[in-house]
Amino acid sequence: MLLKDRVAIVTGAGRGIGKAIALAFAREGADVVVADINLDEAEQTAREVRELGRGSLAVKVDVRSREDVDDLVAKTVERFGVIDILMSNAGVSSMECVIDMPEERWDFNMDVNLKGTFLVTRAVAKQMIRQCSGRIICTASAAGKSGTPTQAHYNASKHGVIAYAKSLALELAPLGINVNSVCPGTVRTSMQEREAAWSAELRGGDAKPEDIKEEYVSFTPLGRLEEPEDVAKVAVFLASDYAAFMTGQAVNVTGGLVNTE
Ligand SMILES: NC(=O)c1ccc[n+]([C@@H]2O[C@H](COP(=O)([O-])OP(=O)(O)OC[C@H]3O[C@@H](n4cnc5c(N)ncnc54)[C@H](O)[C@@H]3O)[C@@H](O)[C@H]2O)c1
Repeated sequence: MLLKDRVAIVTGAGRGIGKAIALAFAREGADVVVADINLDEAEQTAREVRELGRGSLAVKVDVRSREDVDDLVAKTVERFGVIDILMSNAGVSSMECVIDMPEERWDFNMDVNLKGTFLVTRAVAKQMIRQCSGRIICTASAAGKSGTPTQAHYNASKHGVIAYAKSLALELAPLGINVNSVCPGTVRTSMQEREAAWSAELRGGDAKPEDIKEEYVSFTPLGRLEEPEDVAKVAVFLASDYAAFMTGQAVNVTGGLVNTE
């Protein structure tokens, strides 16, 4: 087991990529605190972690709220004593061209994806500094390495996550804490369902969400949709001792969609 007896927090673990990561961490021997704005879904993931024989706790958290995030850290330390791994994964997206974009959409994407990353990593880093050890992994995106029409706000937030994580890595390296990002491509989750529907609508005509998903596959050199478990396996690696000498990296997991640094 790669993560035997480690304690992990995963945000946005009620569903999708975060849930797959929470379960993968548990299969590798970690206890997992499941943090999500949707408590019902967080509790379901926590039950599945316990079915794998590991400890778990579901905590309702809006990553935009400092109070919620502080409460998450306090509850984790009270129950498990330490925080070895943070997977800062909660995120949102929407689609609109810049000239039509309401300010609220810009703020929503920035607040959850970028400010949420700041609030969660800052709170957990304080605990990890006391321990002189820890692993922080942020879910960024292929969108953090390129531009996409109709997602300028989302892409800007994910470029921000990568730059933030690289900077945090340099601040925390002398304190024994590694910080890396994982950059998925187009992953089969509810976010992808929403984006395929929005894309079809924005395109007008006869375009259907299924056509958009076929396009995702055709753009992907490895020739299939990405699964949440594809991301989870790399998250396990980054959380494990195998990645002990990696920090400040933004690792692509895209089936070859992104082939630049
Ligand atoms: N699906 C993709 O194609 C894809 C690609 C690249 C990166 N990502 C990133 O992966 C991460 C997970 O995405 P997903 O596809 O699993 O999305 P999803 O919408 O399926 O799941 C997101 C989870 O985050 C939770 N969440 C949303 N806002 C929150 C908040 N304010 N506080 C706490 N929890 C909150 C949701 O309740 C949900 O459980 C996001 O950061 C996303 O940007 C997704």
